[in-house]
Amino acid sequence: MSTQGGVRRNSIATLQDLRDAGQLFALLTAYDRGTAELAEAAEIPAILVGDSLAQVALGHESTVRIGMSEMLHHVAAVVRSSRTALVIADMPFLSYVDVATAATNASAFLRDAGAGAVKLEGGTEMAPTVRALVESGVPVIGHIGFTPQSALQQDRARAQGKEPAAAAGLLADALALQAAGAAAIVIELVPAELAALITVRLTIPTIGIGAGPHCSGQVQVAPDLLGLLSGPAPRHAGGYATLRDHALAGLTKWRADVAAGTFPSTAQSLTASEELRAALASM
Ligand code: KIV
Repeated sequence: MSTQGGVRRNSIATLQDLRDAGQLFALLTAYDRGTAELAEAAEIPAILVGDSLAQVALGHESTVRIGMSEMLHHVAAVVRSSRTALVIADMPFLSYVDVATAATNASAFLRDAGAGAVKLEGGTEMAPTVRALVESGVPVIGHIGFTPQSALQQDRARAQGKEPAAAAGLLADALALQAAGAAAIVIELVPAELAALITVRLTIPTIGIGAGPHCSGQVQVAPDLLGLLSGPAPRHAGGYATLRDHALAGLTKWRADVAAGTFPSTAQSLTASEELRAALASM
């Protein structure tokens, strides 16, 4: 944990402690003050400012559409709006294309935006970058399985590790990232049994999304989990709230109240003093 203004903020060591204690933990994505405050209030120990921001908050088709400036803007907002959660910054597309670029951008997330760790996508091929960042003092979280930043590269199915060779490759990736010093590994969209095997083979936490119940922790994309967007949520998410329905009902009623002249009410309006009324009458 780090201490700022008397408040202890979680660190990657918090996730390791939870894992070592056998305590399953939840992580939530957040991109703004409202969601960060909700995550804090729900006592969620870590917040991921994911590049899913591109799709679920900014309306892009793909996570490759955003870069460092957008991510820094939102990471800083989440750091400002949270007190105890570890804030993990997702390194966007091509922001870790080589070690020097990765170091510059990871430093911006930690030093300028206040993040406590960064996350990057990729397996064994990313081990040298992870090692270099870790040796420079950057806490790094890996991300294997379905890796959205490379989804454009091949017309591949989203679910990964379904064949024995692919599953062995993902286990090797996880071990390589751990050996390089990764503090934890996100595992996305793989069979539950494979995520379970990776979890028992590693000594660092695994964080699953669509990877079954046997990871050390689980992460979900907040708008999917809370039912904020139109259309169906991914199969592995949803069902914990129906924010869109509630918000839409409220907005529809407000629009009707405005049209009917019942909003704003007297209680929702400023009332002039006697003196101002008299003055207004003579204007
Ligand atoms: O960008 C993101 O939100 C993520 C999660 C899906 C793990 O990487």
